[in-house]
Amino acid sequence: MTETKVDHAGLLIKKAMDAESAGNREEAARIYKNAYDEIMEIAAHSSGRIREKRLRQAESLKKIYESIEGKPDEEDRVAEGRKILDQLNIEPPEIPKITFQEVAGLENVKNEIMSKIIYPMRYKELSQEYNIEFSGGMLLYGPPGTGKTFIVKAIANEVKANFINVNPSTLYSQWFGQFEKNISQLFHAAYLLSPSILFFDEIDTLVPKRSGSESDAARRGVSQLLTEVGGLTSQKDRNIFIIAATNNPWGIDEAIMRPGRFDVKIYVPPPDYESRKKLFQLKLSEIKHLGKIDYGDLAEKTERYSGADIEFICKKAVQNVFMEVIKTGDKIDVTTEDLLDVISQIKPSIDISLLKKYQDYTLTT
Ligand SMILES: Nc1ncnc2c1ncn2[C@@H]1O[C@H](COP(=O)(O)OP(=O)(O)OP(=O)(O)O)[C@@H](O)[C@H]1O
Ligand SMILES: [Mg+2]
Repeated sequence: MTETKVDHAGLLIKKAMDAESAGNREEAARIYKNAYDEIMEIAAHSSGRIREKRLRQAESLKKIYESIEGKPDEEDRVAEGRKILDQLNIEPPEIPKITFQEVAGLENVKNEIMSKIIYPMRYKELSQEYNIEFSGGMLLYGPPGTGKTFIVKAIANEVKANFINVNPSTLYSQWFGQFEKNISQLFHAAYLLSPSILFFDEIDTLVPKRSGSESDAARRGVSQLLTEVGGLTSQKDRNIFIIAATNNPWGIDEAIMRPGRFDVKIYVPPPDYESRKKLFQLKLSEIKHLGKIDYGDLAEKTERYSGADIEFICKKAVQNVFMEVIKTGDKIDVTTEDLLDVISQIKPSIDISLLKKYQDYTLTT
């Protein structure tokens, strides 16, 4: 009786080995596990040295199936993901410190991101019950300095996801001729580091409008990128989000905007009056020596100034006051006048014709 059981377990092991060498790892692990169960049962019905022998055999089967199905543990995964990014010349991933409270305005962007990314991720089971799908990728476009990169960092903080910043300008030489391979490596790293946000900054330089003169390697790279993004769309349990940004949306290969790809497009406009007020408040909030500031006046005088411009204005005004303090030794306050002075010296970085170009683009897409 026991003998036939042993034979049967032996047969199972043989089957598992065949499955393993045919590359069917899951199948192999499952059969090894069955063999393990049978051997344990045989051990339970035997005694003495035979029992010990069976237990040893079971133990080694256990090691085998664990190593086959074994996912690398958390630390190994993260270390591997970091290593890949390092090899790709991408800065180390991190959960950014910036929070939604530090983002002025951009309510529509926040709302889109909440409903398309954050809620589905937070309420994963519910969203599956309602068949809510994650979008493929999201494209943020708008003039320079309007907070595109900034808000993506805040999202990553909100969902406690690793922020992976793919900035093509730092990649070019290293990626030359290896685009396709590097893209799939990159997505693998994002998986190892998940939950993660894979951020393609300046996507227009990575995926420019086709001119017909790009190399085969570049073309294959782009199609690899689209395949990877499309693949993610179909995964209901996904933990990787793809966000791209550009201030040159008309220079992007339109293929990337088809359904299931970067199909959610969001305009990130220059700050409106209320947002500018908020920007001044935020950017001056750490200053201990601040007079009574007329935020309304500052906001009125900064139409078409970007968030980055306003940040610069605040820094410059504070620096001017600081130089004065050093000279006189008097700890004077920063005033509205100090800020207005700087505003009068610098031009808004967004001009009317550029703004119109974005508005027209938004209307036609
Ligand atoms: N809405 C905003 N709220 C708070 N800070 C902002 C906002 N917009 C811009 N800033 C400030 O300006 C800086 C530059 O913004 P950011 O780099 O996100 O701009 P961007 O839209 O990505 O520009 P680019 O198109 O040039 O990449 C940020 O670090 C942030 O301090
Ligand atoms: Mg940016």
